[in-house]
Amino acid sequence: MKISILSLFPDFFTSPLNTSILKRAVEKGLVSIHQVDIRDFADNKNRKVDDRPYGGGPGMVMMPEPVQGAIDYVRTHDAHIVYLTPQGKLFDAKMAERFAKLDHLVLLCGHYEGIDQRVLDLNVTEEVSIGDVVLTSGCPAALMVIDALVRFIPGVLGDELSALEDSFHTNDGGFDCPQYTRPCEFRGVKVPEVLTQGDHKKIAEWRAKEGKAKTLRVRPDLNLRKNYEPTH
Ligand code: ADE
Repeated sequence: MKISILSLFPDFFTSPLNTSILKRAVEKGLVSIHQVDIRDFADNKNRKVDDRPYGGGPGMVMMPEPVQGAIDYVRTHDAHIVYLTPQGKLFDAKMAERFAKLDHLVLLCGHYEGIDQRVLDLNVTEEVSIGDVVLTSGCPAALMVIDALVRFIPGVLGDELSALEDSFHTNDGGFDCPQYTRPCEFRGVKVPEVLTQGDHKKIAEWRAKEGKAKTLRVRPDLNLRKNYEPTH
């Protein structure tokens, strides 16, 4: 799949996209990621991309022309254009899985007080928020979307089942169970005995119970499936 990122700060993405799993996914050709600097499409000599809002008020609004120029530059017939904004639909694992099946995802990052509404109305497929919080720009949100969706692209994770098994694969999934590794005792605290005794049925039951208990304690709003069992 191809991802085009339209932003004012392409440098923001340099290190994360060149690290670990994201880097490997790009190197393997499973995803190609293209940076577009919206400022390159400013049609004035000062490369100005923002202006004061009509009607007054604080802050600046991104002008329509440079944003439209950047969109036209990357647009393909199957482009799915997502605008990252705190006023969007809430991002979750289901959305990440849906995005991972697209041929071309365009992530449009807002800055300042947002983007002129006309260019959004003319171009955007959907508006997405990563949570009920206001970030300094759409860039960290775009990065989070990319990170979450690549896990659903076949071949990206070493273990193909991991994406399916991890928490929140579905809306009604719950948390993973706690995990332990060596040493068997750390600062006087032992690994739960059941995990060291090799009885796989008992281990699965213990993990299911722990995952469920934590979900109910921390996120009682998650509405677990009736027969939900964590899968580890
Ligand atoms: N830009 C600023 N805050 C955001 C959020 N919560 N989600 C997506 N984009 C944003």
